Amino acid sequence: MTAPVAPATTAGVWRGILVEYADRMPIGPDTPIVTLREGGTPLIHSEELSDRTGCEVHLKYDGANPTGSFKDRGMTVAISKAKEAGARAVICASTGNTSAAAAAYAAKAGMTAAVVVPRGKIALGKLAQAVIHGATILQIDGNFDEALTICRELADRHPVELVNSVNPYRIDGQRTAAWEICDQLGRAPDLHLMPVGNAGNITAQWRGYREYRDDALIDALPVVHGFQAAGAAPIVAGERVERPETIASAIRIGNPASWDRAVAARDESHGTITAVTDRELLAAFRLVARAGVFAELASSASVAGLLRMHAEGVLPRGATVVCMLTGHGLKDPEWAVAGAPPAVVLPPDADRAAEALGLA
Ligand code: F0G
Repeated sequence: MTAPVAPATTAGVWRGILVEYADRMPIGPDTPIVTLREGGTPLIHSEELSDRTGCEVHLKYDGANPTGSFKDRGMTVAISKAKEAGARAVICASTGNTSAAAAAYAAKAGMTAAVVVPRGKIALGKLAQAVIHGATILQIDGNFDEALTICRELADRHPVELVNSVNPYRIDGQRTAAWEICDQLGRAPDLHLMPVGNAGNITAQWRGYREYRDDALIDALPVVHGFQAAGAAPIVAGERVERPETIASAIRIGNPASWDRAVAARDESHGTITAVTDRELLAAFRLVARAGVFAELASSASVAGLLRMHAEGVLPRGATVVCMLTGHGLKDPEWAVAGAPPAVVLPPDADRAAEALGLA
């Protein structure tokens, strides 16, 4: 049985996106709410990025979701609807975060999850999540795009629910990041910057903003700028990338499922989809972390893109900008410690510690 949602006495405590945005969700009175209280993530003003760019820059930190990425927003809806339909098993392809979220929400729902991932290409933290939540993990000698093809085929032929973002309920849930941004700012940002991989999220954010505008909850729409990793930038190139390569494994995707919808979001918002290099990704990753926010490397594409746009002189002065930080840095701590100076090792002695800290 699914637990009842939090009663009204918990007013002020975030209850998860399906409850907070119930009137905008594809749920009815009989839909079981499978939630880990996802969403309600911080919108953090960045003094550093605002000073650098002359804009008002905010970071939407979706790494603060229960499984450490924005995927939870879509997964609470997809798994709740799968459960409502009587499904017992779900399947997904993943570069890691989707599989972590699918595993966790399936576990919460008492369902089984199978995840298909590219062997050796997903961060250890994400693999650990799928393992500990009890998912069956299939590692293929292939990339994400091939894994997704396999999963689509399995879901067509067998009684398993596909919970990749080709499942419309995933997109329904992911719209909530755009709504939260508007609710937190009291308006839509002028610019919304985000990483693009399989392109479900840019599709969802743009839909979210449009719906808020149609319902007169915001006056104006943002311009959406998406960023792919340079070695995995099919939308930028205008053609599939057979062997995508980037250190940002989350967005190592050569044939995005929502390609057309990403292009529509770009064009309708008068935005762009461009590429950032691995070097730019690492620089942005470190810069954001130096100001207290530990976001996943792929997430940093939004900030890398912001810095690139600033360098090109194309940012409108004083604009309100939101950079989506889609995942938590702890997913893949290797990139944080890579290149760090050697550890300072000392005997347990206060004088020596003071000396090492330059206090003595
Ligand atoms: N950021 C992170 C941290 C991601 O994990 C992903 C996608 C994206 C951005 C891109 O979002 O695919 O909607 O354009 N990760 C998927 C996964 C592919 O399997 O976890 P998108």
